[in-house]
Parts: sequence; structure tokens; C-alpha cells
Amino acid sequence: MNHKQALKHPIFETISKSAEELNLDSYVIGGFVRDYLLERGDAKDIDVVAVGSGIELAQQVSKNLPTNPKVQVFKTYGTAMLRYDDIEIEFVGARKESYNEDSRNPIVENGTLQDDQNRRDFTINALALSLNTSNFGELLDPFNGIEDLDKGIIRTPLDPDITYSDDPLRMMRAIRFATQLNFKIEEQSLKAIADNKDRIKIITKERIVTELNKILESDKPSIGFKLLEKTGLLDFILPELTALKGIDEVEGQRHKDNFYHTLEVVDNICETTDNLWLRWAALLHDIGKAPTKKFSKKVGWTFHGHEFVGSKMVYKLFKRLKMPLNDKMKFVQKMVLMSSRPIVLASEVTDSAVRRLVFDAGNNVDDLMTLCEADITTKNPKKFKKYHNNFKVVRDKIVEVEERDKVRNFQPPVSGEEIMKTFNLKPSREIGLIKEAIKEAILEGDIPNEREAALKLMIEKGKKLGLTVAV
Ligand code: CTP
Repeated sequence: MNHKQALKHPIFETISKSAEELNLDSYVIGGFVRDYLLERGDAKDIDVVAVGSGIELAQQVSKNLPTNPKVQVFKTYGTAMLRYDDIEIEFVGARKESYNEDSRNPIVENGTLQDDQNRRDFTINALALSLNTSNFGELLDPFNGIEDLDKGIIRTPLDPDITYSDDPLRMMRAIRFATQLNFKIEEQSLKAIADNKDRIKIITKERIVTELNKILESDKPSIGFKLLEKTGLLDFILPELTALKGIDEVEGQRHKDNFYHTLEVVDNICETTDNLWLRWAALLHDIGKAPTKKFSKKVGWTFHGHEFVGSKMVYKLFKRLKMPLNDKMKFVQKMVLMSSRPIVLASEVTDSAVRRLVFDAGNNVDDLMTLCEADITTKNPKKFKKYHNNFKVVRDKIVEVEERDKVRNFQPPVSGEEIMKTFNLKPSREIGLIKEAIKEAILEGDIPNEREAALKLMIEKGKKLGLTVAV
């Protein structure tokens, strides 16, 4: 079957013509072809293989394009990249390569298209479309990748031990594609991942996190995390999660398996949010449970303070994985720290408790509610409904209280400066005490969040502290 249809964009004509001028063959390969055949929409990243120099082909293409885009050359890899419209095109010369055991430096030799396809990660990523005039649009599929696409199978072109040791990141890519596409990893391949799992150590943290993020951005991340766990990779990457596995039983009392619970929470939250960092928060919300787990005869299993411990662990985890230590990390920490707050509230929804929640969570209060709703994983339909209803009441109350009291971005209605002036004070402890008393009174609902009431309370509190109003 011919797939000219995939190559409608004028750029392909230009590449074809440029390759002809250089007297070499060229092909589109990889994700572009895969996603076209899966009807996943037009990919904006195009990988082109030249049987010859990829760098020269890129330069020729640039010459032939009306915009003459800049060609970025990566000499060590023998690749080149250019942008045209909103498309990024990467050119590589067909390679016959092997890697030596301890280093990632490939010994590269020029090869044929088939040599190049052999060294790719999966059969579904080795599919190529010809850009040559003689057979423009023809599919070249030496490993029957089309059947694997059809059946939903991740398979390596060569013996999986070879493919994975060429680039151990591919073990994670296999799991990532299985998650994104809801495909099965073929048995030999899965075994090879388990056998080679410790090779993941040579991969940079950044590349690992890219794959983790793609798993988390999928519709059902649990597919990926279960595979990471099953193959043993998770122990190297996120041991905090594997530590949540298992159910203990003492005197007939059991706690739930917090690993599988966590995965349910992550899948749940993916139904309501695309926010990657909220998804991370769902993944990490219970990590403090492993180090805080205790059994007491009186109350059974407890995880006292796991939210606080967990939020501290978030920092260490982000640091270890070289993830950003910025406001995203702080957001995840805050979500983990506050993850039980609305649950306590749901049993009795008072105005003051809601005000405190909104005050502490600030603009993240909606995300926090989304996390808590996702955290409901009970299999009892009655309880499920009840908990959701309770949170609905909390959400309504948040809106009501916020409209009235505006504590979401609380600004003290009376400033420290005004307090100093009123009582003719120098910076001192009393100012803090008065400010705190006003804030407390507002959150408790003793006074409205208004200036006049706050001024009145300031005077009262000042007098109680033995201060006199300056004239
Ligand atoms: N590839 C490979 N081994 C890797 C990375 C990439 O063999 N470790 C090959 C595959 O043929 C892949 C192509 O290079 O299809 C392009 O890689 P990349 O852009 O990372 O992935 P895509 O397949 O395009 O998919 P996605 O954009 O979803 O990452």
C-alpha cells in the first residue's frame, strides 16, 4: 500500500528533490510514520534517514527552502536539525552501529536503511516511508511493525537484550509507549527489561524524568507504574513508591496496599486534570506512609504525620531526580502536606474550618479538593457516594465563605505600621500579637474581614496588652 497521503506537506517534496540532487536515498522514519498509521494526528517532529550524509542532506534542504532556515549540526552524532513552519526535522545518516558495554559512545559505521532499522528501538518505530521518486510513499517494514501496530505490541527489531543494552533508556521507552498507546510489551522483551534493569543506572536523570512525565501525562499512568514495578525498574527510580507496597497484618488488622491505592488515585486524577504537577502530587501524596507506619493495639495501623514527612521527602526526591526545585516542587510539597485536610473537614463542615482551609491553601484550594476527590478509592458504592457528596458540600462552602470573607489571598486589614502609629510603638512583639489576634478572629468568624471591625479589635487587644492609644 502506498502512503503518499502521509507526505502531503510540501517539505517532503523538497527533501525528496534535495536527496536526488545529492544522489542519495532518503526516508521518513520513526514516530511520524507510527503516529500517522495510528491516526494520532500530524506529528510536528519528523525524523529523516539519509543513506549517506544526513548533515549534507539537511544543508541541501535548507538551500531549497524559500526561508533557508538555519541548520543546526550535531557533529558527534552525525545529525542535523532544521525548522520549517512549525515542523522540526531531524536528519541522520543511516547507521550500522554498535555500542561498547560501559560507555554510551557508539562505534558508528555507515549502513543501509535496513541496518539503520535494525538498530532502532521498536518495530513500530522502525517503519519507514520512502521519499525517493521511484517509490515515493512506499512503506518499508522489514519486521512487520504494521502487524504489531495492529495488535498493539511493543517488540524490538533485534534480540531485546541487544536493543536494550544499546540504550537502556529504551526499557523505559517501552513502558512509556505501552502506557501511551495501551499496548502490550511482548514477553521476551519484558523479561529482557527485568534482566537488564540495573543498566538504567547509566542513564541520566533528565532522560528518565522525561519518560516518567510522559507516563504521567498519559490517560492511565497506572499501566506504566505497574510495569515499572513488575520489571524492577521502579526500585531504582522511585523507591519511595515501592516502599508503599504490601499489606501488613497484626492481630487480624490489615491496612490497605498503599502502592496500588496510589495508582488508583493517579488514574482518578487524570480524569479531571491535565496539570502534570497535580498528577505528581497524586503519585507522591502517600509516600510518607512507609516511614511513619505503626501498629498500636488500641487503634490499629496509623501513619501519624505522614503528610509532613511526605512533603519533606518530595524535596529529596525532586533533588535526586534533578527535577526543578522551584514553585512546581513547592506546589507538590504543599499538596502532599495538606492532602488530609479536607478529609477531616468532610465529616463536619463548619465555616471557620473552611476559612482556615482556604486561608492555608490559598489559590491552590481547588487543586487540593481535586486531589482529595481522587483519593476516594473505596469499593463500597454507598461510601463512595457519601464521601463525594461531603466534598461537594465542602466545595460549595468554599465558594460561599470566599464570597463573603475573601480569605483566599488574605491581606491583613490593618497593617503593622498602623498598629505602631496607633499605640506609638517601636517594632515589638505586641505588633505581631495584635496582627495574629485580628487574623484569628477573622478566621474564627468572630469578626468580619473588614477594616472597621479590625480597627476596633486592634484597640481592644492593645488595651488588654496594656498599651495606650497615642493622641
Ligand atoms: N529511537 C531509538 N532509540 C531511542 C530513541 C529513539 O531507536 N532511545 C528512534 C526510534 O526509531 C524513534 C526515533 O528514534 O521513533 C525518534 O525518537 P523520538 O523522537 O525520541 O521518539 P518518537 O518515536 O518520535 O516518539 P515521541 O515523539 O512520542 O517521543
